[in-house]
Parts: sequence; structure tokens; C-alpha cells
Amino acid sequence: MLVIAMDGPSGSGKSSAAKGVARMLGLRYLDTGAMYRAMTWWMLDQGIEVEDADAVSASAGEPALRVGTDPDAPAIEVDGQDVSGPIRTREVTNAVSAVSRVPAVRERLVVLQREIIATGGIVVEGRDIGTVVAPGAPVKVFLTASEEARAQRRALETARDAETTLAEQARRDHLDSTRKTSPMTKADDAVEIDSTELGLAEVIDAVVRLVKERAAAG
Ligand code: DC
Repeated sequence: MLVIAMDGPSGSGKSSAAKGVARMLGLRYLDTGAMYRAMTWWMLDQGIEVEDADAVSASAGEPALRVGTDPDAPAIEVDGQDVSGPIRTREVTNAVSAVSRVPAVRERLVVLQREIIATGGIVVEGRDIGTVVAPGAPVKVFLTASEEARAQRRALETARDAETTLAEQARRDHLDSTRKTSPMTKADDAVEIDSTELGLAEVIDAVVRLVKERAAAG
């Protein structure tokens, strides 16, 4: 079964590239970051102190999450409510690293992710897909870009100044790559693609070529 794991830091162009690859190859698409964001949105909505790992852990099993896998219409619902807009707010973005370092949160979401992955070909984007969620994936990509290029892309998306974006991004990268439970790391067998100087089409092309090479190698 074709599982393409795409990991990397924020602003590396992962989401656009992962969706593009899924469309081109007729595969489903799973945004695991959206699941961590949905859990975070729910915690904030409930008034749970996200820095309090015990409180987060105690309620991690409560929200009902549903995530879609259509690359053209990625849907995410919490307790039946569409949260695709609210999970992208700055408040959620700045709280998500605290929630996603809690082992009970990760355990629950990894189970859901593996259930979705098990039902057919899919492109999965995140931080720990090649290392923890789908270590047997036949194609693994670790997408990077310079810190400045990543902040610039994010600033364009969020209409905030580059300096604030850079600072918030650096804080999140640091938290995501130094946490104890499944930190963001490149899997040993992942192919690193640096997108600093590449356009979206070139990144998609590089991943599709890799998939074809792997398929040809059997
Ligand atoms: O990809 P994103 O920026 O939407 O992800 C939001 C946060 O979720 C990110 O800061 C870390 C966390 N995350 C994670 O811990 N593991 C994943 N597989 C995906 C995201």
C-alpha cells in the first residue's frame, strides 16, 4: 500500500506539496497537524490551561474528532462542529506545541492516524510520520527550507510582520523538536528536500519522481 510520509517544520511548504502530490497520484491526504490543532482548539474552548500537562492529559480522550482525507477539501470536525477556520488562529498556533507534547494526546491521535492510514493509499504530513506513525512507509520525505524562507511564507499567509512570525516560528520549532515524546526528526531513511530555492511545482515533482523511483526499484 502506498503511504507517503511527509515531515518537516512549519513553513517548509509541506501542506501545499502534500496536497499536490496526493492530487497528482490520486491518493488521499491526511493533515496530522490539523488534528493536534483541533485538540488544542477544544482545550482552549473548554478553558483548560494548556501549559498544565496533567489537565491536558486528563481530558485528551474527551473530544470526538473527525478528519477528512480529500486533498481538495480537507475537513476537520470536533464534536460535530467544523473547526477548519478556528484551528488556524494565532491563539491555537501558539498553544499547539504545549498540547502536542503530552503523551496521552499523541497516543490517542496516533491511533486515529493509523486507522485512517490502514484503509488505503495516502499522503500523510506531520512531524513524526516517518519515525513513529508509519515507520514502514515506502516513501519518506523530510521537507526543509531556511528559517527566513519559512517565516516569509508564513508571514504572507498570516498577514503578520516577518519579525513576529520568525520569533513565533522559532519558538514552536524549538518546542516541537526538543519535546520528549516523538520530537520532530528526520527518519534515517527519509529523503531530505530543501525547498528554499524551489517552487511548489518543483517540490511536488521531486516527490513524485521519488515515488516512481521507489516503485521501479520494487
Ligand atoms: O503542521 P502544523 O503547523 O499545522 O502543526 C501544528 C503543530 O502540531 C506543530 O507545531 C506540532 C504539532 N504536530 C505534531 O506534534 N506532530 C505531528 N505529526 C503534526 C503536528
